[in-house]
Parts: sequence; C-alpha cells; structure tokens
Amino acid sequence: MPWVIRDVVSDINKAVARRWQGLDPLLPEPSDPPEGCMPPLLALGDNGRPAGLGVCRHQHVPADTLAQTWGAAAKFVLTMRLREADTKPAVDDLLTQWREHLETQPEARKDDTAAIVNWPARDVTGVLALLRHGLRPVTVIAVRQAGRPSPANTPAKGPVIRPAGPADLDVVTELEMGVVRYDAHFGGSVPRPATEALVRAETQAALAKRPGWTWLAEHDGQPVALAVVEPPEAATWIAGMTRPGATAYLQTMFVHPAQRSGGTGAALVRHVHDELDTRGVDLTLLHYAQVNPLSAPFWHRMGYRPLWSTWEARPASTLR
Ligand SMILES: CC(C)(COP(=O)(O)OP(=O)(O)OC[C@H]1O[C@@H](n2cnc3c(N)ncnc32)[C@H](O)[C@@H]1OP(=O)(O)O)[C@@H](O)C(=O)NCCC(=O)NCCS
Repeated sequence: MPWVIRDVVSDINKAVARRWQGLDPLLPEPSDPPEGCMPPLLALGDNGRPAGLGVCRHQHVPADTLAQTWGAAAKFVLTMRLREADTKPAVDDLLTQWREHLETQPEARKDDTAAIVNWPARDVTGVLALLRHGLRPVTVIAVRQAGRPSPANTPAKGPVIRPAGPADLDVVTELEMGVVRYDAHFGGSVPRPATEALVRAETQAALAKRPGWTWLAEHDGQPVALAVVEPPEAATWIAGMTRPGATAYLQTMFVHPAQRSGGTGAALVRHVHDELDTRGVDLTLLHYAQVNPLSAPFWHRMGYRPLWSTWEARPASTLR
C-alpha cells in the first residue's frame, strides 16, 4: 500500500476506534483493513478530507467446504472504515463506487454470488444508505458476556443433559442438519449436494477432537436437542469481531420441532452457559438469521444481543 494511503488508513482507523467505542464497548479495535483486490475506495467529506474508505475482497468458497452451506459460492466483501458520526454520505459514496467496480467483474454477474457488508449493529446512521443500495440484512452476530443470567424457569419435566460422544454421530448429524434446513427458509444457509456428508465428517472430527463441547438434551432417553460450541482455540476465526477476551462460538442450537416452546432450549442453553462461565469463557458469539422468528427472540431472552449485522445483495449484481 503506498505511504499516502497508509497514512489515510491509520488516521481513519484512529477516528473509527474512538467512534466504535462510543457506539458499543463490545466492538473490537478496528484492525488494519485487509489487502483488497485494488487500492481502497475513498469517500471525501465536505472539507475535502477522507471521510471513509472501503476495501473490496473477492472470495471463492470451495464446494467441498461447509462454508459454502452458509452462503454464496463467490463473495465480494466490502470492509468499510467510516470516520464521521453521520456515516450516511460516505457509505452512499463508497457503495456507489463499489457497484461501479463490481459491474466490471464478470464473475459478479453469476447467480451464486453475494455482495456483502458487515456492519456494527448499533451504527444506525448508515442503515438507510445500505437499504438504498439494495443490501438486505441477512444474519446477525450476537454476543453474550460471561455471567449474564439466563431465565430460570425450568419445565415441569426438565430434559436430561449430557455431553455427546463419538457414538452419537448419527443423532448429532441429524440435529445439525435440522438447523441447516430450518435456516434455509431465511437465506441463512444454502443447502448443497455435499452438505450432509460434510456435516457428518465435521461432526465426527469435532466429537473426536473436542469432547465436552457438544451437548444433547434427552426426554425419556431420546435425544431431542443439540448445542455445539467451538472453544476459544477453535473460534479465532471470529473472535476478532469483538473486544479481546476468551471468546467461544456457539455453532449450533436445535430443538426437535415436537419439543419446542416447552423450555428444553432454555434448559440446554442454561447448562451450556454454566459450563462456559466455569471454563473461563468471557464472550460467546453466535450467528442467527435476522428473520428467523424463533432464534432472534430466543437468543435475546438467553442474554445475547446484536453486535454486527451482515448485509447482502444476492446475487452480487443486484447491488444498486
Ligand atoms: C430456537 C430454539 C432452539 C428454541 O428452543 P425452545 O425449546 O423452543 O425454547 P424454549 O421453550 O426454551 O423457550 C425459551 C425462550 O425462547 C422464546 N421462544 C420459545 N418459543 C418461541 C416461539 N414459538 N416464538 C417466539 N419465541 C419463542 C421465548 O422467549 C422463550 O422464553 P419464555 O418462554 O420465557 O418467553 C428452537 O425453537 C429451535 O430449535 N428452532 C429451530 C432451529 C433454530 O432456529 N436454531 C437456532 C439457530 S441460530
């Protein structure tokens, strides 16, 4: 990166660090923007000074990875750093420039693509600009701090909760697939021909490698609910989305449809939270689909709140 741009980046990042801390103490220090497909896009403020920058990355998600079950096969991700309290003019400018850039990319015209922006959930001033450019909020990254109470109501006949082991591979895989199928209604997941085999292989590896981080809830000896957590050493891929601390990722939560709304989910999550608090986890992150009518109220009741929202135009050519 030429030195002039490096100075601009460092200057904007300092202002963004102050702004983010004012918005939400659980946001991280803004990292240096990643290496993009071209030099950063710049938005100039009224005083001629850079008010924001945007870095575009092109990501090809291989078909033989589970990542392709959780989004488009080709992603164009814009990382923005916005200096001013009112972000709207700079967002508008950067998204216009980004759309012009994507129009020159033949790959962005394909169907299985998405133009993606990760947005601090409490940074409300830019939301109208995101909407105006055809982006829709698809998923939320929510956060829970250690020790936050979960509701104490226990169903009359509570589930038996136990760690899952390698012998539970079939049932854990089936419950994992339940989340994939349910989230597909909201665009949170995109089931692929390879999904089930990949879920099974990943489950097998996790049960062998990380005993004690997958739990089953049983009624009358039958597993009816699943919770899976990535411990901090496996959650480094997402830990940078929040402030420093031992950060775990709650990867899966599913209650069999016949058992829902009876307190099973709450009992299982309470158990998991007790374990996480005891194991020294400071922060737990998870994703939910913005319009999933079950998960959003559930997670907020369980002590989570939005930290980031992910906005997408699918396919990428629908960015306006
Ligand atoms: C989300 C889910 C795990 C909740 O489990 P559950 O056993 O149904 O939840 P509980 O009965 O323990 O309810 C706990 C809280 O969730 C919320 N909730 C439960 N059922 C709900 C419903 N039908 N609609 C809206 N909120 C509901 C309530 O806030 C409830 O607390 P309250 O009863 O004190 O008000 C379950 O519905 C599920 O598996 N959904 C499909 C898969 C999914 O969305 N997984 C999460 C992906 S991020």
